[in-house]
Amino acid sequence: MRAPIIAGNWKMFKTVSEAKAFIEEIKGKVEIEGVECVICAPFTHLHALVDAVQGTRIKIGAQNMHCEDCGAYTGEISGVMLKDIGIDYVIVGHSERRAYFAESDDIVNKKVHAAFRNQLIPIVCVGEKLGEREAGDTKKVIKVQIEAAFQGISAEQAEQVVVAYEPIWAIGTGKASTPQDANEVIAYIRDLLKGLYGDHVAGAVRIQYGGSVKPENVAEYMRQSDIDGALVGAASLHPASYIQLVEGAK
Ligand code: G3P
Repeated sequence: MRAPIIAGNWKMFKTVSEAKAFIEEIKGKVEIEGVECVICAPFTHLHALVDAVQGTRIKIGAQNMHCEDCGAYTGEISGVMLKDIGIDYVIVGHSERRAYFAESDDIVNKKVHAAFRNQLIPIVCVGEKLGEREAGDTKKVIKVQIEAAFQGISAEQAEQVVVAYEPIWAIGTGKASTPQDANEVIAYIRDLLKGLYGDHVAGAVRIQYGGSVKPENVAEYMRQSDIDGALVGAASLHPASYIQLVEGAK
């Protein structure tokens, strides 16, 4: 039985005080048995948020990190630093990082390794562009991204990975993938994992859908056989909306 995971990806939104107020609002309302809640906030907010969620089951994640543990990389943050302040999750390979910060499949894989070196759970994002979907290349693109991300990752590590399938054309556009289409691609990702690691790992890995998920549509995604939660941008920014997302996942 895979516990659903509702992760908010706040991207570059909110001040620290707004973030702390958000946690105060959701505390006690999202701790639903069997649903895991994660908030992925900007780096400057993480320390304060780890303090704010003390004594709750809410977990805090980062949206990115460097693939090395330390070094002369001005402006970067490492997995060592994230673990040091009590971070549990880190998003890796989000399409915005791939598109705007030249994050290649190879870098994504290095970051997955860095996450495990530092006992962080990576939320690995994959997804196709609109043109790739229209050309019928969705599965081809996903296969390349998944195989690259899991390169050199052991079965024990692989089963802890959270995968987020986020078709790029559905992110922030209001044009969500249908639950059935999302489930088909997610089932395909599970098949790929089966080929790489066998039934046990494929059955254990949690795979989220992301892209215009809202309180109104989350339950429909959660009803699908292979979807284990959602990675949510815009609709995770408001406490009431985030609470509804978690309630929709039970
Ligand atoms: O990582 C979540 C994301 O990219 C989806 O964003 O705003 O469409 O929910 P949104």
